[in-house]
Amino acid sequence: MPQMATKLNLNVKAHSLDHLPKPESYPGSRPANNEPRNALVALKERIRTRVIRSCYWLAYWLAPAVVYTRNPFVRYPYMSTPSELVELTKQFLSVRAPGVAVEVGCNQGWTTCFLLEALRERGIRREYVCIDTFNGFSPEDAAFEYKVRGKTLGIYDDLFLISDPVWLKASLTRFGYQNVSVQKADGSEFDYQVLGPIAFAYIDVDLYRPVKASLERILPNMAAGGLIIVDDCDSNHDLWDGAFHAYTEFCDEHNILQEISCQKFGIIRT
Ligand SMILES: C[S@@+](CC[C@H](N)C(=O)[O-])C[C@H]1O[C@@H](n2cnc3c(N)ncnc32)[C@H](O)[C@@H]1O
Repeated sequence: MPQMATKLNLNVKAHSLDHLPKPESYPGSRPANNEPRNALVALKERIRTRVIRSCYWLAYWLAPAVVYTRNPFVRYPYMSTPSELVELTKQFLSVRAPGVAVEVGCNQGWTTCFLLEALRERGIRREYVCIDTFNGFSPEDAAFEYKVRGKTLGIYDDLFLISDPVWLKASLTRFGYQNVSVQKADGSEFDYQVLGPIAFAYIDVDLYRPVKASLERILPNMAAGGLIIVDDCDSNHDLWDGAFHAYTEFCDEHNILQEISCQKFGIIRT
């Protein structure tokens, strides 16, 4: 589909990343693959996303009670395996420092709900702040992956578009969580100072740029005895290895000992 290729190329150009270092100088970078995705596959994904999103809107409008109970039949919604969720929860509950918990990149709030339930089970009072663009990756962050980190053009363009802060907030309220707030914001630009000391930060924004920028902004606001966890710290993961490279680079720059558990969670203790 030539139209899409043109749009994507324009997209990259519009954000003018020419000033950035050449791909070889970035960890984990590979020769640029500026071939667009298979055009038919891309079109199908785009249509699928739009249709699902419209159905969600309709469902929330027609029958919110049904939607807020999430799904009447079983499914496994989590983006982590059971053992990874166990590890994440263990780390989360290990934090004793006072302060808020923040999740950067909360998407539909599945892990949010899991961790909120863990707090509830233990009777721990902790404010939990969810941050997301609720619009997937920023064009600049995606363009960096394409242009500098050599990822296939377009692969990040239609991901995580089926989410909405209103739906998430309504679902969380319906579940009775009163210690949670939802912010539609870019985690790379958010002013974390307004949250007060951060005891736990879970950064799950997948790509090199937003992970690195979120770390830079969050670290100075961490409480003593706090914990940062960066998701997707796996150098072998084709789509999300940017998170690993941002984490390792950040650790090196700040003289922080790298600690990765489950080949996924990059841990920083503060
Ligand atoms: C893998 S999903 C998060 C999954 C969620 N933590 C969970 O466990 O269910 C990544 C999310 O990051 C969000 N995101 C991407 N770039 C972002 C940015 N710069 N600031 C905030 N959120 C961002 C996307 O919109 C998407 O919802």
